[in-house]
Amino acid sequence: MNELKIKALQCKECERPYEPKAIHVCEFCFGPLEVVYDYDAIKRRVSRKSIEAGPRTLWRYWDLLPVESRDVTTIHEGYTPLWHAKNLGAELGLNQLYVKNDSVNPTFSFKDRVVSIATTRTRELGFDTIACASTGNLACAVGAYGAVAKLRTFVFIPADLEQGKIVGAGIYQPTIVAIKGNYDQVNRLCAEVADSFKWAFVNVNIRPYYAEGSKTLGFEVAEQLGWRAPDHCLVPIASGSLLTKIYKGLQEFIRLGLIPDHKTRISGAQAEGCCPVVTAWREKSDIVKPVRPNTLAKSLAIGNPADGLYARAIMEKTGGLGESVTDEEIVDGISLLAKTEGVFTETAGGVTIGSLKKLAASGKIRPDEVTVAFITGNGYKTQEAVLDKVSKPIVINPSIAEFRDIYNQLSLAKQTV
Ligand SMILES: Cc1ncc(COP(=O)(O)O)c(C=O)c1O
Ligand SMILES: [Zn+2]
Repeated sequence: MNELKIKALQCKECERPYEPKAIHVCEFCFGPLEVVYDYDAIKRRVSRKSIEAGPRTLWRYWDLLPVESRDVTTIHEGYTPLWHAKNLGAELGLNQLYVKNDSVNPTFSFKDRVVSIATTRTRELGFDTIACASTGNLACAVGAYGAVAKLRTFVFIPADLEQGKIVGAGIYQPTIVAIKGNYDQVNRLCAEVADSFKWAFVNVNIRPYYAEGSKTLGFEVAEQLGWRAPDHCLVPIASGSLLTKIYKGLQEFIRLGLIPDHKTRISGAQAEGCCPVVTAWREKSDIVKPVRPNTLAKSLAIGNPADGLYARAIMEKTGGLGESVTDEEIVDGISLLAKTEGVFTETAGGVTIGSLKKLAASGKIRPDEVTVAFITGNGYKTQEAVLDKVSKPIVINPSIAEFRDIYNQLSLAKQTV
């Protein structure tokens, strides 16, 4: 019989302990709750070797994740590629640039990480219904994992989401509730629904467990770099959770002696039409002022980010940077990544690459800094964003004469054939 890994939940503000159930805020100060582990016990069990012997999914880090069961809900999420992005690096003057491509997860975003863990914990806690408030990608992931785990599934989304995300969720047959409003309004409604219905809302009452899934991006990058932390991470921000957990993942590996101590700068990227965290970072403010989002990057359109302050604090503490980009720069970022590294990312990836380009141009990233750009979602879900930027098919009959004609017309063809 395994000893229990999860010691308790604890308030991030006043440190009051709570039983590890389906709760997410402190009853005394309304601070968010976080999972507390028995690190001594984990340290006795975990080594580089034990991790390397694990499955090629994020469950190779089972010992560091907030579930007790080995009967996990998985569709082979995580363990996504990281590579030295030489073409993009050459374009931007960065010799040690890496791309972490999380857009190749089972439902094509990093949300499969958080939802795999949330679904496993949901089953452990005995729920029969799983739900979420989503900016799109989470809806797809909750749809898939809810189906596989045979749970009743409800997803709540803003009504104006991209078609690729609505279809990408709908294929799994969840109940989709589209709200006439923005994500912050969806989220507020879901807090009320979670209060009245005994459901597992992955990013409401299951949030302390769910959020831990993003740590695995930090773990994987360190392992894939040969058991060392990068010098610099550039992370897209919506709620801010992903950024805080990539940092936490690296810190846990250091604490467990799996990688040498290292100061990694953690930087955040947002769209100019929704950049409350980057604004707070620029102003060195302890308040993240809510905004009304107006951006092409709908997956990042959270105007009142739950973990915004914590994300800002980590950017500040680690010497990280903040950057924001216009819609045009987002689309240029998507194109640049496609042309240089062959990756078709969604608008959130455009925010990351657009911001990376600006930071590199301003000299704020050293050329030799081992920098990881996190690509968290897939371009096939946000095709609308690039429709007037892509090559259009030239339609002809199946005739070599017609092909010769159009070939000769192409400005690229200097000589006739
Ligand atoms: C593709 C993508 N990247 C990044 C994020 C940001 O994650 P977080 O809300 O944890 O900051 C989201 C959030 O929905 C997303 O869909
Ligand atoms: Zn508290």
